[in-house]
Amino acid sequence: VPAPHRVQNRQVQDPALTQVIEGFADGSTEFFNTPDTDPDLAQNRTWGREILGKMEASPLGKDLVKANTINAAGELDEAIAMGVDASGDWQALGSAKRAEILHRAGLLFEERRAMLLEVLGSECGKTIDQGDVEISEAIDFAHYYSQLGRELDEVDGAKYVPSKLTVVTPPWNFPMAIPAGSTLSALAAGSAVIIKPATQAARVGSMMVQCLWDAGVPKDVLQLVFVGDRSLGQQLVSDERVDRLILTGGYETAQLFRSFRKDLPLLAETSGKNAIIVTPHADLDLAARDVVQSAFGHAGQKCSAASLVVLVGSVADSRRFNNQLIDAVKSLKVGYPWNPESQMGPLIGEPGEKLKRGLTILGDGERWAIEPKQLDDSGKLYSPGVRYGVQRGSEYHLTEYFGPILGVMTAQSLEEAVQIVNEVDYGLTSGLHSLDRGEMAYWLDNIQAGNVYVNRGITGAIVQRQPFGGWKKSAIGAGTKAGGPNYLIGMGSWVDAPVKD
Ligand code: SER
Repeated sequence: VPAPHRVQNRQVQDPALTQVIEGFADGSTEFFNTPDTDPDLAQNRTWGREILGKMEASPLGKDLVKANTINAAGELDEAIAMGVDASGDWQALGSAKRAEILHRAGLLFEERRAMLLEVLGSECGKTIDQGDVEISEAIDFAHYYSQLGRELDEVDGAKYVPSKLTVVTPPWNFPMAIPAGSTLSALAAGSAVIIKPATQAARVGSMMVQCLWDAGVPKDVLQLVFVGDRSLGQQLVSDERVDRLILTGGYETAQLFRSFRKDLPLLAETSGKNAIIVTPHADLDLAARDVVQSAFGHAGQKCSAASLVVLVGSVADSRRFNNQLIDAVKSLKVGYPWNPESQMGPLIGEPGEKLKRGLTILGDGERWAIEPKQLDDSGKLYSPGVRYGVQRGSEYHLTEYFGPILGVMTAQSLEEAVQIVNEVDYGLTSGLHSLDRGEMAYWLDNIQAGNVYVNRGITGAIVQRQPFGGWKKSAIGAGTKAGGPNYLIGMGSWVDAPVKD
């Protein structure tokens, strides 16, 4: 079911909406999800074209990284000490005042939507539709965590004690929304934050931080850093004064961080190898659309992306479904995001060894229905690929690739399809397309994934409605979900309040 108010005319601000948003400031308004830009409105398409006109062909963040890079252990030590010091005043400010500041940050995200979209395209290759939903998600995090955090000082009988210093190391694939969620929840709880954005997305990360500074978060409470070498990175994530580390990235990275410090208080959302099951009881047209969007949005570079589709029983032989799937993928226009025609953008960089294998090598019994092709000399632009005949237990079945490839598997029954999906080590997102309530109930009872979606795509979790987080090797640490209440509460702990005289 789509969220209410999910689309909006960006040219004409709806007065009712403005009133609702203003209500966040004093807590009188219930949380709701902020609207995305509705591309069906002509005014919005004009607005979008102006943004595309400003996008540039090269990443622009190198100077910024250089200017903010810590190059010596002493500097890092000072930054950590400053964060710990600053946390006292930030906590003493009180949850209601912090909430006001964070609410203002959400308004600034909205105000700067066009600028952010421009840089999401220039720097990270995000098409405007993909960038737009990401900015809405960041705004949702701001309003949600400021609203939720406002109450922390008012709980009777218990005192909330936040972490003093949280280190946030976000990924490049959602360079606005993911760092916003981690940072805002920590700040709302009363913790100081050191954030190290992904270098591939330095400009977007720093624009997010600038919004928070402009909203009133002091610069010692929120510090933006990059690190000059691996040993400084290791020092940052393993320093004993850091009492929470929020990582979104690969499973191996999370394990590496843990090897630096055994008692590391880690909250990590890691890799995924996600599948959508389509049964004969599905609306097959809807299923084809959702599979294509989930597999190829942002060129498959989402931890939530669909890498597998499992066709049950007669769906495997359905000419209608399979032709529709292949035609839809073939019709995707691949190009740089500043080209208004582009529906799928480039990769963040040249593919690494693993993705290269996924793009070129077929396993036993597999065949390309659509073979991916490198489209230019940049090494970043690939057309989407679809491979049929993926076998149970094969390399493709079990490996996360993080790129524009979809593998098709078949199963005799829903039970078998669920086994195939659960054989994967990860468990981040999962989808079922079926209109049969019995199948839905069976699938929900048995599927092993953090975020489960029925008759919908499996990317684009919506703050509050679908808190996002994994299971099995897709989550390490506390296991709480971004966009849900425990993620905020988990930034500290409750202790009994001292008895008053
Ligand atoms: N929250 C994003 C999604 O659901 C992934 O990080 O697609």
